[in-house]
Amino acid sequence: MKAVNQMRATNQMSLTFSALSENESFARVAVAAFVSQLNPTMEELTEIKTVVSEAVTNAIIHGYPDGVGEVFLNCNIMDDRMELVVEDKGIGIKDMDLVRQPLYTSRPELERSGMGFTIMESFVDEFEVESEVGCGTRLRFVKRILAPHGAANYEV
Ligand SMILES: Nc1ncnc2c1ncn2[C@@H]1O[C@H](COP(=O)(O)OP(=O)(O)O)[C@@H](O)[C@H]1O
Ligand SMILES: [Mg+2]
Repeated sequence: MKAVNQMRATNQMSLTFSALSENESFARVAVAAFVSQLNPTMEELTEIKTVVSEAVTNAIIHGYPDGVGEVFLNCNIMDDRMELVVEDKGIGIKDMDLVRQPLYTSRPELERSGMGFTIMESFVDEFEVESEVGCGTRLRFVKRILAPHGAANYEV
């Protein structure tokens, strides 16, 4: 049994994949499997999967509206913190204040909800967005996985 305050070494993984919608579930499952070593609750795991899903979907459909680029994902685990970076080299965001408003979407024809940023922000402890028009967008999240939890069966 692990001591409660036992320090864990940093562990990291990176993925680069084509910006295709079929890779959204791949990214979600890969991150969930990686962070399961922190013994998150089902609720925490669901929140992490939702964040990955929203971030990767945005990179794919908004970052690269006219073609297929690449999505870069990096996940770091340090003690009880998970840091996740999702990046695209796509079109970038012109008006950050506008796109972060709840219900704003530039693609209503795709039946987007416009709630992606709001949802992502609500599920993490830290959230930053950097974007440059024509260069791409980088999202960084930090989520703490609270006290160690008992072993559970995860379905990722
Ligand atoms: N990676 C990205 N690259 C370019 N634009 C983005 C990106 N992510 C989000 N956006 C812009 O921010 C808007 C709001 O995003 P979001 O809250 O996830 O809502 P939705 O995806 O439903 O449109 C999008 O409609 C889009 O205009
Ligand atoms: Mg979205």
